[in-house]
Amino acid sequence: MSHALIVDDDSDTAEMLAELVASQGFTASTARTMRDARRQLATSAPDVVFLDLVLPDGKGTELFNDKAALADTEVVLITGHASLETSIEALRLGATDYLIKPVSPGQVQGILARVMRPGQLQAEISDLRVELDRSGRFGDMWGGSPSMKRVYEQVSRVAATAVTVLIQGESGTGKELVAQTIHSLSRRRSRPFLAINCGAISPHLMESEIFGHEKGSFTGANRQHLGFFERAHGGTLFLDEVTEMPPDLQVKLLRVLETGTFNRVGSTETQRADVRVLGATNRVPERAVVDGKLREDLLYRLNVFPIRLPPLRERREDIALLADHFLAEICKEEGKEKRLSKSAYERMNEYDWPGNVRELRNVVQRAYVMASGATISDEWLELQAGRSSAGNAESILSVRIGTTLADVERDLVFATLEHFEGHKERTAAALGVSLKTLYNRLKEYGGEGNQPPKERRAA
Ligand SMILES: Nc1ncnc2c1ncn2[C@@H]1O[C@H](COP(=O)(O)OP(=O)(O)OP(=O)(O)O)[C@@H](O)[C@H]1O
Ligand SMILES: [Mg+2]
Repeated sequence: MSHALIVDDDSDTAEMLAELVASQGFTASTARTMRDARRQLATSAPDVVFLDLVLPDGKGTELFNDKAALADTEVVLITGHASLETSIEALRLGATDYLIKPVSPGQVQGILARVMRPGQLQAEISDLRVELDRSGRFGDMWGGSPSMKRVYEQVSRVAATAVTVLIQGESGTGKELVAQTIHSLSRRRSRPFLAINCGAISPHLMESEIFGHEKGSFTGANRQHLGFFERAHGGTLFLDEVTEMPPDLQVKLLRVLETGTFNRVGSTETQRADVRVLGATNRVPERAVVDGKLREDLLYRLNVFPIRLPPLRERREDIALLADHFLAEICKEEGKEKRLSKSAYERMNEYDWPGNVRELRNVVQRAYVMASGATISDEWLELQAGRSSAGNAESILSVRIGTTLADVERDLVFATLEHFEGHKERTAAALGVSLKTLYNRLKEYGGEGNQPPKERRAA
């Protein structure tokens, strides 16, 4: 039988939780102090610990300092709305979930249903890592470049927790696939994974789509409708293009993330959500805040754990592997083997892939259909003209993080000037400044101002 330890100095909460846990078939014991909690952790090795963060002889988070004691135990925080910040910190430290006071039986049931020894998911993740070293894939995600390995590490660390994740990356980089992978490596995997594209739903229907509505709550609402939050109960909700959500809805989303509650449109009855939220955007989220598209407080809540997906052109070593993977899939579907020629690999390697992995998959699919023989040569690759990196390498300026704005500005001015072969009118026009401003800048940078010092040249 599974065992739960409840650590809370408030005896009413502790007793109530103990009863709820027992009604779910667990054995339960309680501790009122950190000292007692440590002792019981050592002697009874509970499957799950419900942990209050403020205890008479210390902070609950101190338990995380002793990794060995918690190695095979789930930690669920008991938290009030006021201490949500601390809870987020604790989730970062390794807690897997949290109960928001007042604790309801439904919340406890949901969490206990998901309790499994952390070892189980960890073992699966270890298997995926072995497979990654062998074949360059992590589950359904292909690519063994260092930057993708970092993504897999982040996914592995965050999947088992209840943390909100914001996935950022250009279109077609695999944001939804990352979200699905997180879900499939989480305790919620036997429950639904639902995706909403906030950019594709009309803004005035979005609230009822997300939160549901009551019969008669607006013209055309002929019957009650369950929204995504209710349909994803116990599972994961993926909010794609989250910056496209109207501001008033962003406030409501923030409320669910902070209190775990929401209302259906046209209802005063509060619903409780048991849903993990993952968000995605192809914008730079901080920029979306500056542009007024995303509320800052919502970004802060969503971005507890950010994952950035690198564009394909920044991980060229994955191109051939992905192409082979997609080709193998198509060959299997079509029942006819074809392979890519050397020239095809070469052209794919030089190309910039503005549409990222999705574009690569489509290009391979088309080329498979078009090529009549068993070898797919580069002539069948339909790539957008002018997007080959070989052709425009000199018009890209790389900037190392940590460079000052002043230096970036200076580098950009000189690189643009070089690009236009010293033509100042065109340089000023491209930079969007007046000719006079350009002359002033060049004077500031020193010398006659046509050439940058050697070490500052654009990469
Ligand atoms: N690493 C990968 N390995 C295998 N397939 C991938 C990988 N990354 C993306 N894909 C595939 O590429 C397509 C696009 O991926 P996905 O829909 O996840 O991208 P996205 O970032 O959500 O794009 P958008 O911003 O346009 O919604 C999907 O078919 C997905 O399965
Ligand atoms: Mg997507």
